[in-house]
Amino acid sequence: MTNNKLSTVQSLQWTGHSLKVLDQRQLPELIVYDDYVDAAGVAEAIKSMRVRGAPAIGIAAAYGVVLSVIGHYSGSNEHWKDAVHADIELLAKSRPTAVNLFWALNRMKAVLADVSANPLTEVQACAESIHADDIAANYRMGELGADLLANAKGILTHCNTGALATGGYGTALGVIRSAYARKPINIYAGETRPWLQGQRLTVWELGQDEVPVTLIADSAAAWLMKSGAIDWVIVGADRIALNGDTANKIGTYSLAVLAKQHNVKMMVVAPTSTIDGTIKSGDEIEIEQREQRELLPGCYQDNPYIKAWNPVFDVTPAELISAIITEKGVVLTPANGGVVGLLVV
Ligand code: MRU
Repeated sequence: MTNNKLSTVQSLQWTGHSLKVLDQRQLPELIVYDDYVDAAGVAEAIKSMRVRGAPAIGIAAAYGVVLSVIGHYSGSNEHWKDAVHADIELLAKSRPTAVNLFWALNRMKAVLADVSANPLTEVQACAESIHADDIAANYRMGELGADLLANAKGILTHCNTGALATGGYGTALGVIRSAYARKPINIYAGETRPWLQGQRLTVWELGQDEVPVTLIADSAAAWLMKSGAIDWVIVGADRIALNGDTANKIGTYSLAVLAKQHNVKMMVVAPTSTIDGTIKSGDEIEIEQREQRELLPGCYQDNPYIKAWNPVFDVTPAELISAIITEKGVVLTPANGGVVGLLVV
């Protein structure tokens, strides 16, 4: 695999009149694409995690708005925009933590506000450019991140941040692909309980591209670090506050704490669309709580004494992060000044 080739996996395919979504709940056993023709369907696909990963959620939502325009635009009825805005509200309620969703919807709203007679060409062009720009950002981040890994022997990643979670190639997994293309490196993936994005998606995706990877139980991370096998933990992000605090998949904070103990460096890789310029710190990030049935074995579901607490993201303080990689540049030790500089580049 070379680093200028798209990964073989594609989570989203726009056909011009529908959005094909690879159902990630069924991977790796089954490869099933569902075809969505309206925004309500896309909102449900995001909520149910058929499509997941911050950039992919934003891209899917943008195409959801295009589907809404296809369904509601009428040259003779000036109220078509009200119906589209109702769909945008629906899409915005699908998941709370990944800011890329709201960023993409805001871009679509801006196009709608200015749109001329037949809006379809303009909204579709905007969604397609959100998609294409995300892939380009991933390639750029891949190179920038790989530059920091020249002497690395091994890395550990968490969750799935690859082509499945983005427009293509990946954020953290993009850096890992680019580093591997330059020089073989030992890649470890944590299983990422409870939804198993690492076990079901990341190792599958790397396997599709013939990149060797070793799966570990999440609980083996400290022991892996203690063994000296890894130099970096490399993760994606769902929302980055201006001070560099980073929300990402539950378990990321634990890895950052462990990394500090073992002198392992912590890299966050995310496009600037993941930076929330409206919040100063991670304390302001809403952390999604998902249903306890996603964590609790079936036999306990109706047991009145046994409950589950299921936050699916956590926030890693900037002071535990060694580098944040974006398509606009790299911030080393973000605790010294945060990421504001990236927003003015
Ligand atoms: O709940 P998910 O699977 O949507 O969570 C995904 C993550 O936490 C990813 O690390 C993040 O969105 C970055 S994906 C490039």
